[in-house]
Amino acid sequence: MEEKMKNKLMSLALSAKEKAYAPFSNFKVGAALLTESGEIYTGVNVENSSYGLTICAERTAAVKAVSEGQKIFKAIAIASDSETPASPCGACRQFLWEFGDFPVILVSSKGNVKEYMLSELIPEGFRLKAEQKG
Ligand code: THU
Repeated sequence: MEEKMKNKLMSLALSAKEKAYAPFSNFKVGAALLTESGEIYTGVNVENSSYGLTICAERTAAVKAVSEGQKIFKAIAIASDSETPASPCGACRQFLWEFGDFPVILVSSKGNVKEYMLSELIPEGFRLKAEQKG
Protein backbone atom coordinates (compact mmCIF):
# COMPACT_ATOMS: atom_id res chain seq x y z
CA MET A 1 0.00 0.00 0.00
CA GLU A 2 1.01 3.60 -0.56
CA GLU A 3 3.30 5.16 2.04
CA LYS A 4 1.08 8.25 2.16
CA MET A 5 -2.01 6.22 3.09
CA LYS A 6 -0.03 4.22 5.64
CA ASN A 7 1.11 7.45 7.30
CA LYS A 8 -2.43 8.82 7.27
CA LEU A 9 -3.79 5.70 8.96
CA MET A 10 -1.05 5.78 11.61
CA SER A 11 -1.67 9.43 12.34
CA LEU A 12 -5.46 8.88 12.60
CA ALA A 13 -4.92 5.89 14.92
CA LEU A 14 -2.61 7.96 17.13
CA SER A 15 -5.10 10.82 17.40
CA ALA A 16 -8.07 8.47 17.92
CA LYS A 17 -6.17 6.87 20.82
CA GLU A 18 -6.68 10.00 22.89
CA LYS A 19 -10.43 9.33 22.87
CA ALA A 20 -10.02 5.84 24.37
CA TYR A 21 -12.09 5.09 27.47
CA ALA A 22 -9.60 3.09 29.51
CA PRO A 23 -9.92 4.18 33.17
CA PHE A 24 -9.27 0.65 34.48
CA SER A 25 -6.21 -0.43 32.53
CA ASN A 26 -4.97 3.05 31.59
CA PHE A 27 -3.90 1.38 28.35
CA LYS A 28 -5.27 3.51 25.53
CA VAL A 29 -5.54 2.07 22.05
CA GLY A 30 -6.62 3.73 18.80
CA ALA A 31 -7.31 2.16 15.42
CA ALA A 32 -7.89 3.51 11.91
CA LEU A 33 -9.45 1.17 9.40
CA LEU A 34 -9.43 1.71 5.63
CA THR A 35 -12.29 0.10 3.71
CA GLU A 36 -12.67 -0.76 0.03
CA SER A 37 -14.66 2.41 -0.67
CA GLY A 38 -11.76 4.53 0.59
CA GLU A 39 -13.54 5.53 3.79
CA ILE A 40 -11.57 5.45 7.04
CA TYR A 41 -13.20 4.49 10.34
CA THR A 42 -11.46 5.10 13.64
CA GLY A 43 -12.03 3.19 16.87
CA VAL A 44 -10.87 3.17 20.47
CA ASN A 45 -10.99 0.68 23.31
CA VAL A 46 -14.03 1.15 25.51
CA GLU A 47 -13.74 -0.39 28.96
CA ASN A 48 -16.49 -1.10 31.46
CA SER A 49 -16.86 -1.44 35.24
CA SER A 50 -17.83 -5.01 34.41
CA TYR A 51 -14.34 -5.60 32.97
CA GLY A 52 -15.20 -8.46 30.63
CA LEU A 53 -17.47 -6.23 28.57
CA THR A 54 -14.50 -4.23 27.31
CA ILE A 55 -14.27 -3.81 23.54
CA CYS A 56 -10.92 -3.33 21.83
CA ALA A 57 -10.15 -0.43 19.50
CA GLU A 58 -9.93 -2.72 16.46
CA ARG A 59 -13.39 -4.14 16.97
CA THR A 60 -14.88 -0.70 17.59
CA ALA A 61 -13.51 0.44 14.21
CA ALA A 62 -14.72 -2.74 12.48
CA VAL A 63 -18.22 -2.43 13.92
CA LYS A 64 -18.41 1.23 12.89
CA ALA A 65 -17.37 0.32 9.34
CA VAL A 66 -19.75 -2.62 8.94
CA SER A 67 -22.65 -0.67 10.36
CA GLU A 68 -22.03 1.93 7.67
CA GLY A 69 -22.22 -0.75 4.98
CA GLN A 70 -18.50 -1.52 4.55
CA LYS A 71 -17.73 -5.22 4.33
CA ILE A 72 -14.28 -5.31 2.73
CA PHE A 73 -11.32 -3.98 4.66
CA LYS A 74 -8.06 -2.84 3.06
CA ALA A 75 -5.76 -1.93 5.97
CA ILE A 76 -5.77 -1.11 9.66
CA ALA A 77 -3.36 0.90 11.80
CA ILE A 78 -3.29 0.34 15.55
CA ALA A 79 -1.65 2.76 17.99
CA SER A 80 -0.97 2.39 21.69
CA ASP A 81 1.19 3.96 24.38
CA SER A 82 3.23 0.81 24.65
CA GLU A 83 6.96 1.23 23.92
CA THR A 84 6.85 -1.77 21.63
CA PRO A 85 3.95 -1.86 19.15
CA ALA A 86 0.87 -3.55 20.67
CA SER A 87 -0.43 -6.43 18.63
CA PRO A 88 -4.16 -7.21 18.26
CA CYS A 89 -5.64 -9.81 20.61
CA GLY A 90 -6.81 -13.17 19.30
CA ALA A 91 -10.47 -12.19 19.34
CA CYS A 92 -9.79 -9.10 17.22
CA ARG A 93 -7.70 -11.09 14.74
CA GLN A 94 -10.60 -13.45 14.14
CA PHE A 95 -13.11 -10.59 14.06
CA LEU A 96 -11.13 -8.69 11.40
CA TRP A 97 -10.42 -11.84 9.36
CA GLU A 98 -14.13 -12.01 8.50
CA PHE A 99 -13.65 -8.94 6.30
CA GLY A 100 -10.49 -9.74 4.33
CA ASP A 101 -6.77 -10.24 4.48
CA PHE A 102 -4.96 -6.91 4.60
CA PRO A 103 -1.97 -5.08 6.13
CA VAL A 104 -2.02 -4.56 9.90
CA ILE A 105 0.22 -1.64 10.82
CA LEU A 106 1.25 -1.38 14.47
CA VAL A 107 2.66 1.83 15.88
CA SER A 108 4.14 2.42 19.33
CA SER A 109 4.38 5.54 21.46
CA LYS A 110 8.03 5.79 20.34
CA GLY A 111 6.99 5.74 16.69
CA ASN A 112 8.25 2.18 16.16
CA VAL A 113 6.30 0.56 13.36
CA LYS A 114 5.67 -3.09 12.57
CA GLU A 115 3.62 -4.37 9.67
CA TYR A 116 2.06 -7.77 9.03
CA MET A 117 -0.59 -9.24 6.80
CA LEU A 118 -3.58 -10.26 8.91
CA SER A 119 -3.13 -13.85 7.66
CA GLU A 120 0.32 -13.91 9.30
CA LEU A 121 -1.28 -13.00 12.63
CA ILE A 122 -4.11 -15.52 12.26
CA PRO A 123 -3.01 -18.49 10.19
CA GLU A 124 -5.92 -20.73 9.29
CA GLY A 125 -8.45 -18.19 10.59
CA PHE A 126 -12.03 -19.40 10.58
CA ARG A 127 -14.44 -18.28 7.86
CA LEU A 128 -17.79 -19.70 6.79
CA LYS A 129 -17.92 -17.58 3.64
CA ALA A 130 -14.83 -18.58 1.65
CA GLU A 131 -15.47 -15.88 -0.97
CA GLN A 132 -15.02 -13.11 1.60
CA LYS A 133 -11.37 -12.55 0.72
CA GLY A 134 -11.30 -8.78 0.37
N1 THU B 1 -6.77 -3.54 23.78
C1 THU B 1 -7.15 -3.06 22.57
O1 THU B 1 -8.01 -2.18 22.47
N2 THU B 1 -6.54 -3.57 21.47
C2 THU B 1 -5.51 -4.44 21.48
O2 THU B 1 -4.99 -4.78 20.44
C3 THU B 1 -5.03 -4.98 22.77
C4 THU B 1 -5.84 -4.62 23.95
C5 THU B 1 -7.36 -2.92 24.97
C6 THU B 1 -8.34 -3.73 25.76
C7 THU B 1 -8.22 -3.10 27.13
O3 THU B 1 -9.07 -1.97 27.19
C8 THU B 1 -6.80 -2.61 27.21
O4 THU B 1 -6.33 -2.61 25.87
C9 THU B 1 -5.90 -3.46 28.07
O5 THU B 1 -6.00 -4.79 27.74
